[in-house]
Amino acid sequence: MNVTTPSRKLLRTLQGEAFEQPPIWMMRQAGRHLPEYLELRSRARDFLDFCYSPSLAVEATLQPIRRYGMDGAILFADILLILDAMGRNVRFIKGEGPRVDVADSVEALKVVPMETVISRMSPVYETVSRVRSQLPEETTLIGFAGSPWTVAVYAIEGKGGTTKSTARMKAFSDAEDLDAMLEVLAEATAYYLKQQADAGVDALMLFDSWAEGLPDDVFERIVIKPTKMVVDKVRSLGVTQPIIGFPRGSGVMLPRYAQETGVTAVGLDSATPLDWANEALPQGMPVQGNLDPLLLIAGGDMLTQRVRKIVHAFRDRPHIFNLGHGVTPETPIAHVEQVVKTVREMT
Ligand code: CP3
Repeated sequence: MNVTTPSRKLLRTLQGEAFEQPPIWMMRQAGRHLPEYLELRSRARDFLDFCYSPSLAVEATLQPIRRYGMDGAILFADILLILDAMGRNVRFIKGEGPRVDVADSVEALKVVPMETVISRMSPVYETVSRVRSQLPEETTLIGFAGSPWTVAVYAIEGKGGTTKSTARMKAFSDAEDLDAMLEVLAEATAYYLKQQADAGVDALMLFDSWAEGLPDDVFERIVIKPTKMVVDKVRSLGVTQPIIGFPRGSGVMLPRYAQETGVTAVGLDSATPLDWANEALPQGMPVQGNLDPLLLIAGGDMLTQRVRKIVHAFRDRPHIFNLGHGVTPETPIAHVEQVVKTVREMT
Protein backbone atom coordinates (compact mmCIF):
# COMPACT_ATOMS: atom_id res chain seq x y z
CA MET A 1 0.00 0.00 0.00
CA ASN A 2 2.91 2.34 0.51
CA VAL A 3 3.94 3.21 -3.00
CA THR A 4 7.38 4.80 -2.84
CA THR A 5 6.99 8.22 -4.31
CA PRO A 6 10.29 9.22 -5.86
CA SER A 7 9.87 12.85 -4.87
CA ARG A 8 10.02 12.14 -1.11
CA LYS A 9 13.58 13.15 -0.39
CA LEU A 10 13.61 12.07 3.26
CA LEU A 11 12.25 8.64 2.37
CA ARG A 12 14.79 8.30 -0.43
CA THR A 13 17.55 9.12 2.06
CA LEU A 14 16.32 6.32 4.30
CA GLN A 15 16.47 4.09 1.24
CA GLY A 16 20.16 4.93 0.83
CA GLU A 17 20.49 8.05 -1.32
CA ALA A 18 22.81 10.91 -0.35
CA PHE A 19 21.99 14.53 -1.24
CA GLU A 20 24.13 17.66 -1.21
CA GLN A 21 21.28 19.44 0.58
CA PRO A 22 20.02 16.80 3.00
CA PRO A 23 16.35 16.57 3.91
CA ILE A 24 15.47 18.21 7.22
CA TRP A 25 12.98 17.84 10.06
CA MET A 26 13.28 18.35 13.81
CA MET A 27 12.29 16.13 16.69
CA ARG A 28 9.48 17.87 18.60
CA GLN A 29 9.00 20.29 15.70
CA ALA A 30 5.32 20.44 16.62
CA GLY A 31 4.44 21.78 20.03
CA ARG A 32 5.02 24.58 22.40
CA HIS A 33 7.52 26.76 20.54
CA LEU A 34 4.75 27.43 17.97
CA PRO A 35 2.05 30.02 18.86
CA GLU A 36 -0.38 28.23 16.54
CA TYR A 37 0.12 25.04 18.59
CA LEU A 38 -0.57 26.83 21.88
CA GLU A 39 -3.79 28.17 20.40
CA LEU A 40 -4.84 24.71 19.23
CA ARG A 41 -3.81 23.11 22.53
CA SER A 42 -6.12 25.44 24.46
CA ARG A 43 -9.07 23.71 22.77
CA ALA A 44 -8.48 20.33 24.42
CA ARG A 45 -9.15 19.45 28.04
CA ASP A 46 -5.81 17.71 28.49
CA PHE A 47 -2.86 16.51 26.47
CA LEU A 48 -4.10 12.94 26.15
CA ASP A 49 -7.44 14.17 24.81
CA PHE A 50 -5.50 16.26 22.35
CA CYS A 51 -3.53 13.23 21.10
CA TYR A 52 -6.75 11.20 20.81
CA SER A 53 -8.61 13.88 18.82
CA PRO A 54 -7.71 13.28 15.17
CA SER A 55 -8.81 16.74 14.04
CA LEU A 56 -6.49 18.43 16.57
CA ALA A 57 -3.62 15.95 16.13
CA VAL A 58 -3.79 16.28 12.32
CA GLU A 59 -3.58 20.04 12.60
CA ALA A 60 -0.65 19.89 15.06
CA THR A 61 1.22 17.51 12.72
CA LEU A 62 0.73 19.86 9.78
CA GLN A 63 1.61 23.14 11.53
CA PRO A 64 5.42 22.84 11.30
CA ILE A 65 5.10 21.70 7.67
CA ARG A 66 3.13 24.81 6.76
CA ARG A 67 5.40 27.14 8.68
CA TYR A 68 8.82 25.70 7.81
CA GLY A 69 8.28 23.41 4.84
CA MET A 70 10.09 20.56 6.60
CA ASP A 71 10.82 17.45 4.51
CA GLY A 72 9.38 15.25 7.23
CA ALA A 73 6.20 15.40 9.30
CA ILE A 74 6.09 13.46 12.56
CA LEU A 75 2.77 12.09 13.66
CA PHE A 76 1.47 14.10 16.60
CA ALA A 77 1.13 11.64 19.48
CA ASP A 78 3.23 10.61 22.48
CA ILE A 79 5.37 7.63 23.46
CA LEU A 80 3.27 7.21 26.61
CA LEU A 81 -0.05 6.55 24.84
CA ILE A 82 0.74 2.85 24.83
CA LEU A 83 1.01 2.79 28.63
CA ASP A 84 -2.31 4.55 28.90
CA ALA A 85 -3.85 2.00 26.54
CA MET A 86 -2.38 -0.68 28.84
CA GLY A 87 -4.41 0.78 31.69
CA ARG A 88 -1.70 2.82 33.44
CA ASN A 89 -3.72 6.05 33.57
CA VAL A 90 -1.18 8.45 32.05
CA ARG A 91 -1.58 12.10 33.11
CA PHE A 92 0.36 15.17 32.05
CA ILE A 93 0.60 17.57 34.96
CA LYS A 94 1.39 21.15 34.03
CA GLY A 95 4.93 22.07 35.02
CA GLU A 96 5.66 18.57 36.30
CA GLY A 97 5.60 16.32 33.25
CA PRO A 98 3.99 12.92 32.87
CA ARG A 99 2.65 10.72 35.67
CA VAL A 100 1.86 7.01 35.25
CA ASP A 101 0.29 4.48 37.63
CA VAL A 102 3.35 2.39 38.50
CA ALA A 103 3.61 -1.00 36.77
CA ASP A 104 6.66 -2.70 38.22
CA SER A 105 5.92 -6.26 37.18
CA VAL A 106 4.97 -8.05 33.99
CA GLU A 107 1.57 -8.91 35.49
CA ALA A 108 0.69 -5.22 35.74
CA LEU A 109 1.44 -4.80 32.04
CA LYS A 110 -0.85 -7.66 31.06
CA VAL A 111 -4.05 -6.35 32.67
CA VAL A 112 -5.52 -5.18 29.37
CA PRO A 113 -5.64 -7.77 26.53
CA MET A 114 -3.23 -6.96 23.69
CA GLU A 115 -6.02 -6.55 21.12
CA THR A 116 -7.75 -3.99 23.32
CA VAL A 117 -4.48 -2.10 23.82
CA ILE A 118 -3.99 -1.82 20.07
CA SER A 119 -7.60 -0.91 19.29
CA ARG A 120 -7.70 1.77 22.03
CA MET A 121 -5.12 3.66 20.00
CA SER A 122 -7.26 3.71 16.84
CA PRO A 123 -7.64 7.52 16.87
CA VAL A 124 -3.89 7.59 16.19
CA TYR A 125 -4.30 5.47 13.05
CA GLU A 126 -7.13 7.76 11.97
CA THR A 127 -4.77 10.74 12.43
CA VAL A 128 -2.14 9.04 10.26
CA SER A 129 -4.48 8.43 7.34
CA ARG A 130 -5.94 11.92 7.51
CA VAL A 131 -2.49 13.54 7.71
CA ARG A 132 -1.20 11.53 4.76
CA SER A 133 -4.09 12.68 2.60
CA GLN A 134 -3.48 16.34 3.50
CA LEU A 135 0.32 16.43 3.39
CA PRO A 136 2.17 17.73 0.36
CA GLU A 137 3.13 14.81 -1.92
CA GLU A 138 6.85 15.39 -1.30
CA THR A 139 6.64 15.30 2.51
CA THR A 140 7.62 12.08 4.27
CA LEU A 141 5.34 11.06 7.14
CA ILE A 142 7.06 9.49 10.14
CA GLY A 143 5.19 7.34 12.65
CA PHE A 144 6.78 6.42 15.99
CA ALA A 145 6.72 4.69 19.33
CA GLY A 146 8.89 4.63 22.41
CA SER A 147 11.38 1.78 22.69
CA PRO A 148 10.52 -0.90 25.25
CA TRP A 149 13.22 0.19 27.73
CA THR A 150 12.27 3.89 27.72
CA VAL A 151 8.56 3.08 28.09
CA ALA A 152 9.43 0.58 30.86
CA VAL A 153 11.32 3.34 32.71
CA TYR A 154 8.12 5.42 32.84
CA ALA A 155 6.08 2.37 33.85
CA ILE A 156 8.44 1.43 36.68
CA GLU A 157 9.28 4.92 37.95
CA GLY A 158 5.77 6.33 37.46
CA LYS A 159 7.18 9.59 36.12
CA GLY A 160 10.00 11.15 34.14
CA GLY A 161 12.93 13.25 35.28
CA THR A 162 14.18 10.68 37.80
CA THR A 163 17.64 9.11 38.12
CA LYS A 164 15.96 5.93 36.80
CA SER A 165 17.67 3.98 39.58
CA THR A 166 14.54 1.95 40.43
CA ALA A 167 14.21 0.83 36.80
CA ARG A 168 17.96 0.27 36.39
CA MET A 169 18.15 -1.68 39.66
CA LYS A 170 15.48 -4.03 38.36
CA ALA A 171 17.89 -5.08 35.60
CA PHE A 172 19.99 -6.69 38.37
CA SER A 173 17.60 -7.49 41.19
CA ASP A 174 14.64 -8.79 39.19
CA ALA A 175 16.15 -9.42 35.76
CA GLU A 176 13.75 -12.10 34.62
CA ASP A 177 10.67 -9.99 35.32
CA LEU A 178 12.20 -6.92 33.64
CA ASP A 179 12.98 -9.02 30.55
CA ALA A 180 9.37 -10.25 30.53
CA MET A 181 8.09 -6.66 30.79
CA LEU A 182 10.30 -5.63 27.87
CA GLU A 183 8.98 -8.55 25.85
CA VAL A 184 5.34 -7.55 26.43
CA LEU A 185 6.15 -3.94 25.52
CA ALA A 186 8.07 -5.05 22.41
CA GLU A 187 5.11 -7.07 21.18
CA ALA A 188 2.56 -4.30 21.80
CA THR A 189 4.88 -1.75 20.19
CA ALA A 190 5.26 -3.90 17.08
CA TYR A 191 1.49 -4.23 16.61
CA TYR A 192 1.08 -0.51 17.24
CA LEU A 193 3.70 0.33 14.58
CA LYS A 194 2.12 -2.15 12.17
CA GLN A 195 -1.19 -0.24 12.49
CA GLN A 196 0.57 3.06 11.82
CA ALA A 197 2.29 1.52 8.79
CA ASP A 198 -1.03 0.23 7.43
CA ALA A 199 -2.61 3.65 7.98
CA GLY A 200 -0.01 5.24 5.71
CA VAL A 201 3.23 6.36 7.38
CA ASP A 202 6.33 6.32 5.13
CA ALA A 203 8.82 5.58 7.90
CA LEU A 204 8.88 4.61 11.56
CA MET A 205 10.99 5.79 14.46
CA LEU A 206 11.79 4.27 17.86
CA PHE A 207 12.65 6.76 20.61
CA ASP A 208 14.94 5.33 23.28
CA SER A 209 15.36 8.51 25.29
CA TRP A 210 16.72 6.75 28.39
CA ALA A 211 19.34 4.49 26.81
CA GLU A 212 22.15 6.34 28.58
CA GLY A 213 24.46 5.20 31.35
CA LEU A 214 24.00 1.44 31.13
CA PRO A 215 26.78 -1.18 31.51
CA ASP A 216 27.50 -2.79 28.13
CA ASP A 217 25.98 -6.18 28.94
CA VAL A 218 22.87 -4.52 30.35
CA PHE A 219 22.62 -2.30 27.28
CA GLU A 220 22.72 -5.44 25.13
CA ARG A 221 19.97 -7.03 27.19
CA ILE A 222 17.53 -4.19 27.79
CA VAL A 223 18.11 -1.88 24.82
CA ILE A 224 19.46 -3.89 21.88
CA LYS A 225 17.55 -7.14 22.42
CA PRO A 226 14.05 -5.63 22.91
CA THR A 227 14.62 -3.22 20.02
CA LYS A 228 15.56 -6.15 17.81
CA MET A 229 12.40 -7.90 18.99
CA VAL A 230 10.30 -4.94 17.86
CA VAL A 231 12.07 -4.73 14.49
CA ASP A 232 11.85 -8.49 13.85
CA LYS A 233 8.18 -8.60 14.82
CA VAL A 234 7.30 -5.55 12.71
CA ARG A 235 9.04 -7.18 9.74
CA SER A 236 7.30 -10.50 10.36
CA LEU A 237 3.99 -8.60 10.19
CA GLY A 238 4.92 -7.56 6.66
CA VAL A 239 5.92 -3.95 7.31
CA THR A 240 8.53 -2.75 4.82
CA GLN A 241 8.89 0.91 5.84
CA PRO A 242 12.36 2.00 7.02
CA ILE A 243 12.87 2.22 10.79
CA ILE A 244 14.98 4.89 12.51
CA GLY A 245 16.36 3.93 15.93
CA PHE A 246 17.36 6.66 18.37
CA PRO A 247 19.17 5.29 21.43
CA ARG A 248 19.91 8.63 23.09
CA GLY A 249 23.05 8.60 25.21
CA SER A 250 24.20 5.21 23.92
CA GLY A 251 27.77 6.49 23.42
CA VAL A 252 30.21 3.87 22.17
CA MET A 253 27.44 1.26 22.17
CA LEU A 254 25.84 2.97 19.16
CA PRO A 255 27.67 0.89 16.49
CA ARG A 256 26.54 -2.33 18.15
CA TYR A 257 22.99 -1.00 18.31
CA ALA A 258 23.23 -0.09 14.61
CA GLN A 259 24.52 -3.52 13.61
CA GLU A 260 22.49 -5.78 15.86
CA THR A 261 18.96 -4.34 16.11
CA GLY A 262 18.05 -4.40 12.42
CA VAL A 263 17.09 -0.72 12.29
CA THR A 264 17.50 1.03 8.93
CA ALA A 265 18.99 4.25 10.26
CA VAL A 266 20.19 5.74 13.55
CA GLY A 267 19.67 9.04 15.33
CA LEU A 268 22.71 10.74 16.86
CA ASP A 269 22.48 12.72 20.09
CA SER A 270 24.40 15.97 20.53
CA ALA A 271 27.31 14.34 22.38
CA THR A 272 28.17 11.96 19.52
CA PRO A 273 31.36 13.06 17.75
CA LEU A 274 30.65 13.42 14.03
CA ASP A 275 33.90 11.88 12.73
CA TRP A 276 33.68 9.00 15.15
CA ALA A 277 30.09 8.22 14.11
CA ASN A 278 31.10 8.27 10.46
CA GLU A 279 33.89 5.77 11.05
CA ALA A 280 32.11 3.53 13.50
CA LEU A 281 28.74 3.12 11.79
CA PRO A 282 28.18 0.66 8.93
CA GLN A 283 28.98 2.16 5.55
CA GLY A 284 25.89 3.49 3.80
CA MET A 285 23.69 3.44 6.90
CA PRO A 286 21.62 6.64 7.01
CA VAL A 287 22.13 8.91 10.01
CA GLN A 288 20.03 11.72 11.45
CA GLY A 289 20.49 14.25 14.21
CA ASN A 290 23.18 15.80 16.39
CA LEU A 291 22.49 19.57 16.44
CA ASP A 292 22.35 20.67 20.08
CA PRO A 293 18.85 22.06 20.87
CA LEU A 294 20.57 24.66 23.09
CA LEU A 295 22.55 25.99 20.14
CA LEU A 296 19.25 26.25 18.29
CA ILE A 297 18.03 28.52 21.10
CA ALA A 298 21.27 30.52 21.13
CA GLY A 299 21.31 31.08 17.36
CA GLY A 300 23.82 33.37 15.65
CA ASP A 301 26.83 32.58 13.54
CA MET A 302 27.85 29.67 15.73
CA LEU A 303 24.56 27.98 14.81
CA THR A 304 25.09 28.46 11.07
CA GLN A 305 28.67 27.17 11.30
CA ARG A 306 27.67 24.06 13.23
CA VAL A 307 24.84 23.26 10.81
CA ARG A 308 27.32 23.45 7.94
CA LYS A 309 29.81 21.29 9.83
CA ILE A 310 27.22 18.55 10.44
CA VAL A 311 26.14 18.51 6.78
CA HIS A 312 29.77 18.38 5.61
CA ALA A 313 30.64 15.59 8.03
CA PHE A 314 28.00 13.30 6.53
CA ARG A 315 28.54 14.20 2.88
CA ASP A 316 29.42 10.65 1.96
CA ARG A 317 26.47 8.88 3.52
CA PRO A 318 22.70 9.26 3.50
CA HIS A 319 21.98 12.00 6.04
CA ILE A 320 18.81 13.56 7.45
CA PHE A 321 19.36 16.88 9.18
CA ASN A 322 17.91 16.93 12.71
CA LEU A 323 18.65 17.82 16.32
CA GLY A 324 20.33 15.69 18.97
CA HIS A 325 17.10 15.92 21.01
CA GLY A 326 13.80 17.75 20.74
CA VAL A 327 13.00 21.40 20.03
CA THR A 328 12.31 23.10 23.36
CA PRO A 329 9.50 25.62 24.08
CA GLU A 330 12.03 28.52 24.35
CA THR A 331 13.25 28.05 20.76
CA PRO A 332 12.88 31.18 18.58
CA ILE A 333 11.06 30.51 15.33
CA ALA A 334 13.63 32.63 13.46
CA HIS A 335 16.40 30.21 14.51
CA VAL A 336 14.54 27.20 13.12
CA GLU A 337 14.09 29.15 9.88
CA GLN A 338 17.80 29.99 9.87
CA VAL A 339 18.71 26.29 10.11
CA VAL A 340 16.30 25.28 7.34
CA LYS A 341 17.71 28.01 5.08
CA THR A 342 21.33 27.07 5.83
CA VAL A 343 20.70 23.39 5.04
CA ARG A 344 18.82 24.23 1.83
CA GLU A 345 21.64 26.50 0.65
CA MET A 346 24.46 24.03 1.28
CA THR A 347 27.02 23.61 -1.44
O1 CP3 B 1 6.75 17.21 17.06
C1 CP3 B 1 6.68 16.15 17.70
O2 CP3 B 1 7.68 15.47 17.91
C2 CP3 B 1 5.31 15.76 18.19
C3 CP3 B 1 5.08 14.41 18.68
C4 CP3 B 1 5.79 13.99 19.98
C5 CP3 B 1 5.46 14.41 21.30
N1 CP3 B 1 6.19 13.66 22.17
C6 CP3 B 1 4.49 15.46 21.66
C7 CP3 B 1 4.48 16.04 23.02
C8 CP3 B 1 6.77 13.02 20.09
C9 CP3 B 1 7.53 12.30 18.97
C10 CP3 B 1 7.02 12.81 21.49
C11 CP3 B 1 7.97 11.81 21.99
C12 CP3 B 1 8.22 11.72 23.43
N2 CP3 B 1 7.35 11.90 24.47
C13 CP3 B 1 9.45 11.29 23.98
C14 CP3 B 1 10.68 10.87 23.18
C15 CP3 B 1 11.47 12.03 22.73
C16 CP3 B 1 12.20 12.75 23.85
O3 CP3 B 1 11.85 13.91 24.07
O4 CP3 B 1 13.09 12.15 24.46
C17 CP3 B 1 9.31 11.30 25.38
C18 CP3 B 1 10.37 10.92 26.41
C19 CP3 B 1 7.97 11.66 25.68
C20 CP3 B 1 7.32 11.74 27.01
C21 CP3 B 1 6.79 13.09 27.30
N3 CP3 B 1 5.72 13.67 26.67
C22 CP3 B 1 7.26 14.00 28.28
C23 CP3 B 1 8.45 13.75 29.18
C24 CP3 B 1 6.43 15.12 28.23
C25 CP3 B 1 6.42 16.29 29.18
C26 CP3 B 1 7.59 17.17 28.99
C27 CP3 B 1 7.29 18.14 27.92
O5 CP3 B 1 8.13 18.31 27.02
O6 CP3 B 1 6.22 18.76 28.03
C28 CP3 B 1 5.50 14.93 27.17
C29 CP3 B 1 4.45 15.87 26.72
C30 CP3 B 1 4.44 16.24 25.27
N4 CP3 B 1 4.60 15.37 24.24
C31 CP3 B 1 4.19 17.55 24.74
C32 CP3 B 1 4.20 17.42 23.35
C33 CP3 B 1 3.94 18.51 22.35
C34 CP3 B 1 3.87 18.79 25.57
C35 CP3 B 1 2.49 18.68 26.12
C36 CP3 B 1 1.66 19.95 26.05
O7 CP3 B 1 1.44 20.47 24.95
O8 CP3 B 1 1.23 20.38 27.12
